[in-house]
Amino acid sequence: MFISFEGIDGSGKSTQLGLLRTWLEQRGYRIVTVREPGATHLSESIREILLSNKQSITPTAELLLFSAARTHLVETVIRPALERSEVVLCDRFVDSTTAYQGYGRQLDLREVDLCNSLATHGVMPSVTFFIDVPYEEAQLRMQFHASPTEPDRMERSGRDFFERVRDGYLAIAEGDPQRFVIVNGVQDRDRIHAEIVAHMEERLG
Ligand code: ADP
Ligand code: TYD
Repeated sequence: MFISFEGIDGSGKSTQLGLLRTWLEQRGYRIVTVREPGATHLSESIREILLSNKQSITPTAELLLFSAARTHLVETVIRPALERSEVVLCDRFVDSTTAYQGYGRQLDLREVDLCNSLATHGVMPSVTFFIDVPYEEAQLRMQFHASPTEPDRMERSGRDFFERVRDGYLAIAEGDPQRFVIVNGVQDRDRIHAEIVAHMEERLG
């Protein structure tokens, strides 16, 4: 089973992924956890380039770099884990590209879709939890993080960008209601976790 978590930066998706991981492990599932971009040596190197404030990157180059990181991760980690019947938990996947590069950077959505299908080889999550929080709330959460860091290149994209990204996620979710679960992220983390667990119990039967 392949499960992804989506949301704007600071929405709380990594927190929820960690809680779900523990819940699944306690039930005996073998789990592989990955983050995007990253999780392999090559994809972590591409992540550094993408998030560094040292240089600007044009939107299409950004799209192709995220896609290159993804295809390497799918080929070397995600697909093999799914073939071993393990559960893959992914902190961001292809919907991040549609939301950030498609809606956020306003690239042609058909070109983004083409890139996404090349990068994934058709490997798609069966469930995607979209943790929905407004921009202001996400900003506050990042500010009060236990170890706050300087905003990276993506995080410097500004309010309008992140509002387009959030609206983009809602549009993608609306178009794929079988796969997407929209979770109200402006709740206590345990309540969000309980909602996610309820969905998982339904799907696992
Ligand atoms: P993301 O992976 O989406 O960037 P994180 O899980 O790292 O988000 O959370 C961002 C910050 O918000 C962290 O400081 C985390 O402790 C805090 N946080 C996570 N979930 C909640 C929540 N439900 N309510 C308040 N703060 C939260
Ligand atoms: P990450 O550090 O995981 O985000 P967060 O701050 O939410 O923990 O993600 C790296 C950044 O890359 C984040 O700003 C979202 C962005 N991104 C894209 O723009 N396109 C993509 O395809 C992916 C996977 C991430």
